[in-house]
Amino acid sequence: MRIAIVSLFPEMFSSISDYGITRRAMENGLVELNFWNPRQFTSDKHQTVDDRPYGGGPGMVMMIQPLRDAIQAAKAWAGEEAKVIYLSPQGRVLTQPGVQELATEANLVLVAGRYEGIDERLIELEVDAEWSIGDYVLSGGELAAMVLIDAVTRLIPGALGHAQSAEQDSFSDGLLDCPHYTRPDVYEGRAVPDVLMSGNHERIRRWRLQQALDRTVRRRPDLLEKLELNEEQQKLLSE
Ligand code: ADE
Repeated sequence: MRIAIVSLFPEMFSSISDYGITRRAMENGLVELNFWNPRQFTSDKHQTVDDRPYGGGPGMVMMIQPLRDAIQAAKAWAGEEAKVIYLSPQGRVLTQPGVQELATEANLVLVAGRYEGIDERLIELEVDAEWSIGDYVLSGGELAAMVLIDAVTRLIPGALGHAQSAEQDSFSDGLLDCPHYTRPDVYEGRAVPDVLMSGNHERIRRWRLQQALDRTVRRRPDLLEKLELNEEQQKLLSE
């Protein structure tokens, strides 16, 4: 997947390109990142990318021209069929089903805004979808873009090592994750649950599912309401 990023701060993205699973996915060519900085599409001496808002008020708004030129250059690299996504709190809130949808796209152009936002006409002209990572306000779209890239990358076949798998992720079945333990088997008097030492894979699988269901009921009942539980899940839930 090619992901073109339009941002005034491309250096921020080293946190995903230099570390962990996202880094390996990039090294293995599963994900390719490239950057377009609107400043490079300015023609004035100060490389101006923002201007005062019509109607007054605090803050500045990102101007159309440098940002539009940057988006079009990004699209030329990512492919004309690439989805252009603007990260903003006004967008559709990103959840795992949304991440799954995005992971099926061939290529993406991610537009990270700064200041109070971007000129609305640019959204009308160039943006295919607006996505939010949650109901809070960040200082710019870069962190949101990185969250989206990280979550999508995990779902690209081959991105997770064979010991890991996206099917085992919390939320893959819409439930919260079960608890995890490693050595030592007793720590400050707290023992690892016996079942995990039993070697009985079927019992372990059922215990984990039970734990995931219990936690979801107690911590996030809102998630359960939207789920269609399978027969086994319904049975465990009623026990
Ligand atoms: N930009 C600023 N806040 C944001 C949010 N919550 N999600 C996506 N982009 C943003």
